[in-house]
Amino acid sequence: MGNTRILHMDNVYLSREGQEILRGVTLTVARGSIHVVLGLNGSGKSTLAYTLMGSAGYAPDRGRIWFDGQDITDLSISERGQRGLTLAWQEPARFEGLTVARYLGLGMAKPDRERVDAGLRAVALNPTIYRERAVDASLSGGERKRVELAAVYAIQPKLAILDEPDSGIDTMSLETSRPSSAGWPTRARRCCSSATAMRSSLWLIKPP
Ligand SMILES: Nc1ncnc2c1ncn2[C@@H]1O[C@H](COP(=O)(O)OP(=O)(O)OP(=O)(O)O)[C@@H](O)[C@H]1O
Ligand SMILES: [Mg+2]
Repeated sequence: MGNTRILHMDNVYLSREGQEILRGVTLTVARGSIHVVLGLNGSGKSTLAYTLMGSAGYAPDRGRIWFDGQDITDLSISERGQRGLTLAWQEPARFEGLTVARYLGLGMAKPDRERVDAGLRAVALNPTIYRERAVDASLSGGERKRVELAAVYAIQPKLAILDEPDSGIDTMSLETSRPSSAGWPTRARRCCSSATAMRSSLWLIKPP
């Protein structure tokens, strides 16, 4: 695989409960580029994201996936994470007893306060207010979604997969909290406008 490609999936098929969802998907992502996948509800965007990330139950029936020059098709989700691939979930989970700062530090070899704060600022959350908040039901859905994006930003992956990054975020805050502002690649701003109009998207993006 050429060094210009960060991700390549070749002719991937995947079925769930006997239903074929991915039918021969081939996708190449060049280093430094941003891809936005648009599709109707139920068309398979989240399934594509889980398959790329290696979630349990999402091993392809056929086809291979390469990331950063290595065949990762048979690697676990944590092995893919260690190699620099990460996913912001469409519906992030809540965790009782975990602070925002600790949650953002989980993906770092050594928790780094500066990176945690930079991640929160990138999604327009004030670190002083949110650092010690719990990642539980006390966060609103939109706040939880922003914390998930902040975590992706803070761990500085080689490639981030963002599943509907602006769903749940109020339209008045979209310009300041979406990942296309505050240091995320400015080229994403144009992509995001169309994704927002479609209201259904999956992004493949490299945070700065
Ligand atoms: N475990 C499963 N068993 C049966 N069908 C499934 C399973 N998981 C997903 N599907 C189906 O696969 C299709 C694709 O789902 P997926 O969540 O990938 O869509 P999506 O494009 O992300 O949709 P949305 O825009 O609503 O987020 C849907 O029809 C869904 O019902
Ligand atoms: Mg989805």
